Amino acid sequence: MIAQRSIEQVLDTAQIEEVVGDFVSLKRRGTNLIGLCPFHNEKSPSFNVSPARGIYKCFGCGEGGNSLRFIMQHEKLSYPEAIRYLARKYQIELEEDRSNESNSEEKQERESLLLLNEWACKFMETQLHETEHGKAVGLSYFVERGFSEETIRKFRLGILPEAWNAMSEQAQKEEYLPEYLVKTGLSIQRDDGSLYDRFRNRVMFPIENISGKVIGFGGRILGNDKKQAKYVNSPESEVYNKSAVLYGIFHARKSISDRNEALLVEGYTDVISLHQAGIENVVASSGTSLTQDQIKIIRRLTPNVTILYDGDAAGIKASFRGLDMILEQGMNVKIVLFPDGEDPDSFARKNTPTFVREYIQAEARNFIEFKTSVLTDEAGTDPIKRAGMIREIIASLALIPDPMLRSLYLRECARKVDMEEQLLVFELNKQLNAKRDKAFRNNSPELKAQPLPEAPPDLFTDDVPQTQVYKAEAQERDIIRILIRYANEHIYFEVEDENGEKSNLAYRVGDFMLSELEADALVPEHPLHRKVYDLFLSSGEEDFPGEQKFFNHLDEAISQLAIDLCSERHNLSVLWQEMHQIYVASEADKLKKLVLEAIYSYKLRHVLHMIRVVQEQINKMDSEDVNGLDLALQELMLLQEAKRELSGKLSYVVL
Ligand code: CTP
Ligand code: MN
Repeated sequence: MIAQRSIEQVLDTAQIEEVVGDFVSLKRRGTNLIGLCPFHNEKSPSFNVSPARGIYKCFGCGEGGNSLRFIMQHEKLSYPEAIRYLARKYQIELEEDRSNESNSEEKQERESLLLLNEWACKFMETQLHETEHGKAVGLSYFVERGFSEETIRKFRLGILPEAWNAMSEQAQKEEYLPEYLVKTGLSIQRDDGSLYDRFRNRVMFPIENISGKVIGFGGRILGNDKKQAKYVNSPESEVYNKSAVLYGIFHARKSISDRNEALLVEGYTDVISLHQAGIENVVASSGTSLTQDQIKIIRRLTPNVTILYDGDAAGIKASFRGLDMILEQGMNVKIVLFPDGEDPDSFARKNTPTFVREYIQAEARNFIEFKTSVLTDEAGTDPIKRAGMIREIIASLALIPDPMLRSLYLRECARKVDMEEQLLVFELNKQLNAKRDKAFRNNSPELKAQPLPEAPPDLFTDDVPQTQVYKAEAQERDIIRILIRYANEHIYFEVEDENGEKSNLAYRVGDFMLSELEADALVPEHPLHRKVYDLFLSSGEEDFPGEQKFFNHLDEAISQLAIDLCSERHNLSVLWQEMHQIYVASEADKLKKLVLEAIYSYKLRHVLHMIRVVQEQINKMDSEDVNGLDLALQELMLLQEAKRELSGKLSYVVL
C-alpha cells in the first residue's frame, strides 16, 4: 500500500496544466488555460484548466476533477495506478505503508510481543487445567463463580502459581527474550537484572484484540482480601493500549453487528457471565472510564449502544459520563440499571438466561427517560434544582450532532419535565451558541439575527411529499460553495461598546455560517450537501478543511460536487474581474456581502416555505376549531414578521 504521506506529496506536486498538457494542447486565457475537451468531441474549446486551483472542468460535457482524476479518466487507471503514474512523471519516490509490510523492525517487535503473550496464555491455561494447584485452587474458584468448562476454555482463563518466577523462568528456558518479557509486562525486572512474575497467585483473564490475539492480561486475586488490589492488569505496551481496548470484542463482534446493538458492561466477569447466558453482543470497558477510542471501535459495528450498569450511585454517575460521550459520537444510547448491588454478572447468575434477556429489553431506557427520571428524583420540587437539572439534560442534548435527532429528544424531554418546548429550544440554542464560539455575536446589530420562530410541532411530520423536493436546494448549494471556498477566511463586523467606542470583530466565515444556521436549527437537506456540511461541523477547533481537501476527497461524489461548485461560471467571472484589475470593493467586504446574502436568502427561503405550509394548514382546518385556528394565525404572524425582517436585511446587503 502506498503511504498516505506519499499520496499527499504526489497530489501537492502534480501541476494540473502539466498533467493535462501531456494530452491536450492548452492556450492561456487570463489566469486559466483552455483547450479542446479530450472527453467529448468539440470544435470550439470549452475545456478549462485552472492552475491556481489545480482543477479542470469542461463546460461542454461537465467532466471535471484534479490531476489524479484526469489521469484516472483519461488513461483508465485505478487510483493507485494513477498515483504511481504521477509519481513517475514527477520522479517522486513512493513510500510503502510500513504497517502493512512484513519485515519492518517495529512490526517484528510487535510480532514478538504477541507471540510471547500467546505462549504465556497457553502456559496459564495449562497451569489451570493440568496442575494440582491449578485444579484445586483455580478451577474450583471459577466453577464456584458458575463458569462452565466450556466458558473457561472459550475465554482462555488461566492461573499462575504463587512462586516468584514460575513463568519468567520457563519462558527464558524456552528462549523468550527477557527484553520482551519486560515489555509485555509479564515480568518485572529487579535491580540485579533478574526477573519475577507480575501476576503471582492470581486467576488470569487474557485480553484479546478484535482479531483474537492476546494483547494483555487481567489477574484477579483468589478470594476477597480487601487489602490487595482485586485486579492487576498488564501495563501499556506496544501491543496493549488500554484506552483503545474493549474486553470481549473478539467474541462479541459478530453478534454486535448481527443484532445491530452492543451491550456495554464494566468488568471481565460481566462479559463472561452474559456470554454464558447466551447474550454475546457484550463488551467491557474494563473498569477504566469509557474512552472515545473504545466508542469508535463499537461505532464501526453498530450505532446502537446499551449501557448496563450497577444501580448504585457510582454506577449512575459513570453511566452519565459514558452516555454523553456516546451521544457526542452521534450514536444512540440506552441504559439499563440493575437492582442496587447487582452487576450483570451476579444478576445473570441468579436468573435464567431468558429472564436476563427480557429484563434488559424491558428496562432499557433512552437517555432522556433515564436522565430525567434520575434527576427528577434528585431535584424533587425545588424550582432552582429543577432548573439546574433541565440545564443538565439540555447540556447532553447539545452534544448530539444530528439536529433532527436533537429536536426529537427535545420534544420528548419537554413532555417528560412538563415544560414548554419553546423554552427548552431557547435554552438549547443558548448552549449551542455558547459552545460554538465564546466571543461570538457580542453586540453588533448586524449579528443579532432574530431566531426563527419554531414551526408548530406537527408541521414537518406527515405531510412531507413522497418525492423529495428540497426546499432550498439552490441556496444550500450556495452555502456549501462558500464554505468550501472561504471557510477559513475572515469577515469583520463593527461593534460598539457601552462607551460608544467602535471596533471591528473578526469571525471566520465557517464559524459565522455554522453558528447562524445552528441558531435556527437549520441543516442542509440534500444528502450530499449534508455530507459536506458535516465535515465542517466536525472539524472542531482546528482549521476548516480547505477546497483542496474536497477536490481530493476519496468520496467521489463529494470531490465532484466541490469541483463543480468551485468552477461555476460566476466564480470565473470573479477571476475575470481580478484579471482586469477591477477591484470593486475590498476583498473582505465582497466576501462579507456574499456570506450574508447566502445566509439570509437561505433563511428567507425556509420562512417562505413555512408560511406556505401554515397557510395550507389553515385552509384545511375545521372552522369550528377556534383554538387551533388561533394558534395557526399567531404562527403565521410571527412568520410574516420574520419574512419582513429577513427581506429587509437582504435588500440592505444586496444594495
Ligand atoms: N478493575 C481493575 N482493577 C481493580 C478493580 C477493577 O482493573 N482494582 C476492572 C476490571 O476490569 C473489573 C472491572 O474493573 O472487571 C469491574 O470491577 P469490579 O466490578 O470490581 O469487578 P468484577 O469484574 O465485578 O469482579 P468480581 O465480580 O470478581 O468482584
Ligand atoms: Mn462482580
